[in-house]
Amino acid sequence: MTILIDQPQFGTEVEGKRVLNNEKELEGDEGFRMPNANSFGHNFRDYEVESERQEGVEIFYRTNHINQTYDFVKKMREEYRKLDRVEMSIWECCELLNNVVDESDPDLDEPQIEHLLQTAEAIRKDYPDEDWLHLTALIHDLGKVLLLPSFGELPQWAVVGDTYPVGCAFDESIVHNKYFKENPDYKNPAYNTKYGVYSERCGLDKVMMSWGHDDYMYLVAKENKSTLPSAGLFVIRYHSFYALHRSGAYKHLMNEEDKENLKWLQIFNMIYTARARLELMSKRLSHIISLSLKSTFLQG
Ligand SMILES: [Fe+2]
Ligand SMILES: [Fe+2]
Repeated sequence: MTILIDQPQFGTEVEGKRVLNNEKELEGDEGFRMPNANSFGHNFRDYEVESERQEGVEIFYRTNHINQTYDFVKKMREEYRKLDRVEMSIWECCELLNNVVDESDPDLDEPQIEHLLQTAEAIRKDYPDEDWLHLTALIHDLGKVLLLPSFGELPQWAVVGDTYPVGCAFDESIVHNKYFKENPDYKNPAYNTKYGVYSERCGLDKVMMSWGHDDYMYLVAKENKSTLPSAGLFVIRYHSFYALHRSGAYKHLMNEEDKENLKWLQIFNMIYTARARLELMSKRLSHIISLSLKSTFLQG
């Protein structure tokens, strides 16, 4: 993807419309509590719950964890950093993203474009002076175009889901980590130690992340010489890196700049998940209203 800069007109105020699956996240609400959800607003960590969705998620992560090897990521980065696919403006890409179905997000009933706008607006509301963060929010998921034919039509496991470093040991905090045992890198002594091919405090930009929409959009921004500050690029590249920003893993690879940028990523995710909670509340409310209307009609 090559970016053309233009000036789209954003005229409408949008409301939070993010969905959480785990309604328990709303219970015992003593101030803000981080929901136990991933970047899609889904709880991928409650392994006890038997449901079709959980099964689908488990299959998704098994495929993801087996196939995301150091060599695979290297190959994908070399291929996609050429930016020889499609030339378009940011806004055209936002519209194109509406053709994408993110299977890891079955309950997300809003078009992708609304997700982008609402995330950007939610951040603008809380941080009105950080225009770079508004833009970051607007473009953070554009890399999902990888699912479309003109971008190679990659399988879901190579585009969405939580991300993590390759080239060093997989951390236990990564969702469904048991499936890494089937990843060829798991038994490779070059890649299965704490530091692997990296060194202490080498900086996360030196670290290869599992391939997906996050790293692709980061490459697109970098190669297009984006003027976003490094914190913006950091948010784009690591917004699905839950092992880091939720569990604090891999901090031994971070340098001082990463530590500063992580603060912004945590702000981004806090607003992101807070929107998800609002969406769940509004969903529950409309469900209750529709049930009470039905009962009124039946009685009448
Ligand atoms: Fe997103
Ligand atoms: Fe994302």
